[in-house]
Amino acid sequence: MFRKKSSAFALFVCLSAASMTSAAAQSTPFTQEAKQKAEAILKQMTLDEKVGQLNQAAGIVMPGIANKKPDELITQGKVGSILWLNDVKEINRLQHIAMEKSRLHIPILFGFDVIHGYRTVFPVPLAMASSWDPSVEEQAQHLAAQDARAAGIEWTFTPMVDIARDARWGRIVEGAGEDPFLGSAMARAQVRGFQGANLGPDRVLVCVKHFAGYGAADGGRDYDSSYIPEELMQNVYLLPFHAAEEAGAGSFMSAYMDLNDVPASGNHWLLTDVLRKEWGFQGLVLSDAFAVGNLKTHGYARDPEDAAYKAIIAGVNMDMASLTYTHNLAKLVTDGKVSESYLDEMVLPILEAKYDLGLFEHPYVDESKVDSVLNRPEGLALERKLAARSMVLLRNENNALPLSKGLKKVAVIGPLADSGQDIEGGWTVEGLFGNGSKSRPVTVYTGIKNKLGPAAHVTLVTGPEPSRVYPGLLDRLSGKKPTPPPTAEETANWIAKAKAAAAEADLVVAVMGEMANMSSEAASRATLDLPGIQEPMLEAVVATGKPVVLVLENGRPLDIRWAAQHVPAILEAWYPGTQGGDAVADVLFGDVNSGGKLPLSWPRVAGAEPLYYNHNLTHEPEDRLNFTSRYWDINSKPLYPFGYGLSYTTFKFTNLRLSKRSMGTGDVNEASVDVTNTGSVPGDAVAQLYIHQRHGSASRPVRQLEGFERVTLQPGETKTLKFPLTKNELQFWNPQTKQWGVEPTEFDVWAGDDSTAILHDEFTVIKP
Ligand code: NOJ
Repeated sequence: MFRKKSSAFALFVCLSAASMTSAAAQSTPFTQEAKQKAEAILKQMTLDEKVGQLNQAAGIVMPGIANKKPDELITQGKVGSILWLNDVKEINRLQHIAMEKSRLHIPILFGFDVIHGYRTVFPVPLAMASSWDPSVEEQAQHLAAQDARAAGIEWTFTPMVDIARDARWGRIVEGAGEDPFLGSAMARAQVRGFQGANLGPDRVLVCVKHFAGYGAADGGRDYDSSYIPEELMQNVYLLPFHAAEEAGAGSFMSAYMDLNDVPASGNHWLLTDVLRKEWGFQGLVLSDAFAVGNLKTHGYARDPEDAAYKAIIAGVNMDMASLTYTHNLAKLVTDGKVSESYLDEMVLPILEAKYDLGLFEHPYVDESKVDSVLNRPEGLALERKLAARSMVLLRNENNALPLSKGLKKVAVIGPLADSGQDIEGGWTVEGLFGNGSKSRPVTVYTGIKNKLGPAAHVTLVTGPEPSRVYPGLLDRLSGKKPTPPPTAEETANWIAKAKAAAAEADLVVAVMGEMANMSSEAASRATLDLPGIQEPMLEAVVATGKPVVLVLENGRPLDIRWAAQHVPAILEAWYPGTQGGDAVADVLFGDVNSGGKLPLSWPRVAGAEPLYYNHNLTHEPEDRLNFTSRYWDINSKPLYPFGYGLSYTTFKFTNLRLSKRSMGTGDVNEASVDVTNTGSVPGDAVAQLYIHQRHGSASRPVRQLEGFERVTLQPGETKTLKFPLTKNELQFWNPQTKQWGVEPTEFDVWAGDDSTAILHDEFTVIKP
């Protein structure tokens, strides 16, 4: 049962620090029944069997990297969980060994990265966040949970709720962008989608990652150290994690990097003081892959034994893949360095999760049903709908879009135009670790053909792919060779082909961006350029004078300064998933009116990163004086602000009002705003509410999102949207008092359709 806890809270002026350090109300993501059963079986377990439960074994699909055949280990009760295995037959075979041959018949928990769908691949998480509609995440992850469970996966390493303020960081694609309020909403929705109200045989346990601060990697380089002062941790980076925890998330994953010089996977403050004591989390913590062993690499642990000690004492229940617990934990207990009762506490939530997931009663997969579940047509229909809902219309000069379905000659151009491999994005369960993806992704080229039918002539010119191969160990091991860049002659030929196709067509759709493996893990970039020859290709096509629409497929905002001036229509599709091409066509041709909004501030150039709207004002605003926080050589403001996105209709925001001009800290001040569709077609508006604390005992962001709602409006229709402003929205963690609380001071409030909204009001918080 999930119980909601109210967040720890204090009015700065009257509560002491001591009251904030007391443990939060205890709640557990697992049931009392599971707890009792887990305690009963724990009593029968040997030390080795307990340590076994803390081992998540890998290596099965990556021979040469980790352990040997798992049969023997499973029989001995030395494997609690297995990851990176999605062969259903093998899952059943191993589960039979656990259930029939191991002494206590404890089932294995199979985990996998089911990030945005299983065979039906949904839009990447950054795209789903662009919907500004948490139900998009919830519906997608609900279907993904059913698919995963049917295929034998009971634990997913999702949601990734890392705040990302730097688009160079490749993993920005896996999260909800830069904002803690939006990120928290998306985090909660994903927990609901996977776990439902209660875990059970059709649910999947989530693993909220990467706890915490991983997105603030130095220079945007994946895995690099993060230096985040506690006020920033509390007010920004930890918020979506706390939201997921409060929504009942059953597990967390400790991150790879050093946080303020203490590796996250051995960080007692994070894993015990904050997560367990302050928040009252009673689920389990899994390390990231090999992260326990890597505590030695960080120069934090002396040797593997010390690594196991530091990780377990910090609060990591389960060691993903490094076998450091397997080899060292029993000795640490027999040497008296780790008490057996502490070890028991580490084992219990793993057993509880297994009980609540129904694994003891339903350990096996029905192999005959897997394909029929994974190929459900309703999954594909849902995917198409959610993908279209997640796209952001960045530019639409002179109503270049929507396109006419009467178009007869269209040229579809660019290396991503017909790439099924890329349109689904980086994390595809079957594509990554299986025997190849069995989904049949619809590319943009196919989507446009589907929309226009056989009467139209749709030509395709792809162009050379930028190399997909990074010259690192994995690529070298797999024998892949980097694609050499095209020669000058090849480049000229491709551009000539693109120009010729454009010249023949009535309209060009350029599909450009990044190959899917250029973002996600270990895929940081120093530039945000359109890679390869895409930029000159685009410029050449525009030079023909034919109308051009740019569809972007990418995992991060790119440097599109030229396109933003010269290409009349730009649609951000991110990686829209299996039905992505049809969904793009739905939006381009107006069957769906685009309503997505940016979950990040779109930089002009990589050098502007990190860039985020909710910064403090530290000097004069840019337009007032020269002495301000800005660059000499570029406009320092985003190309497109956080929350931005166009529609085929127009909206007007009016009548912002507050129920109280002056409020006490326990009051609810209701902000309402009227939103009217002033155009001629139905469309979705996303009303956004921002606040700002004018002064107090700490500088506060110029604006921060504290409410949003996506609504559909018919032409001429007006809806009044209401947003509560309570202590939850107004409080912050104060670096001087080291407490959460609301200050008695003055606040601004704005409502509108992006973070530059100008409709304004103000109110005061008074002492009670
Ligand atoms: C490493 C990644 O950082 C993490 O996000 C992922 O869940 C694990 N590998 C397991 O694949």
